Amino acid sequence: MKTAVVVMSKHHGNTRKLVDAIAREHEITVIDAGANSSTDLSGYDCIGFASGIAYGKFYKQIGDIIENDLPSGKKVFFLYTCARNDKDFAAHEREQAQKKGCKVLGVYGCSGFNTYSVLKLIGGINKGHPDESELRGAVDFFAALPIGEGGK
Ligand SMILES: Cc1cc2nc3c(=O)[nH]c(=O)nc-3n(C[C@H](O)[C@H](O)[C@H](O)COP(=O)(O)O)c2cc1C
Repeated sequence: MKTAVVVMSKHHGNTRKLVDAIAREHEITVIDAGANSSTDLSGYDCIGFASGIAYGKFYKQIGDIIENDLPSGKKVFFLYTCARNDKDFAAHEREQAQKKGCKVLGVYGCSGFNTYSVLKLIGGINKGHPDESELRGAVDFFAALPIGEGGK
């Protein structure tokens, strides 16, 4: 079983930290969203999508990859960091994947350092996040996914 995680983490690299923490302990291929005009995901059994949240959704580049490059029938999961972790910010992307007949294994979200707009004036919010326990949470989340034999 081969697993890839497609990541876009352009605000402060917050979400990338989750992916890097997982990659330190598990065999995954990390793919930077936006590096190529199309992303070949056909060779992976399970695909994670990792993103910061902007205006209530995953970054547009991630949504575009789900729309254009995610083959049907794959196992998928979602990781995100956000300013206020008080709802499921992967709802839209989960629906996109389900429409393609993909099986959603799980969603992990946590807070991330945020200096968007006027927040910059006060030094931002969620400084130091994701912290160690949030990174551990992401690794544990991944480890518990029912990816299948040899997938991790
Ligand atoms: C343009 C912009 C829009 C954002 N919109 C939201 C939002 O709607 N909800 C939220 O909780 N956080 C929002 N945030 C905060 C980011 O999701 C948060 O800082 C995240 O950790 C950034 O992840 P990254 O460093 O991986 O890109 C926004 C940040 C930016 C820069």
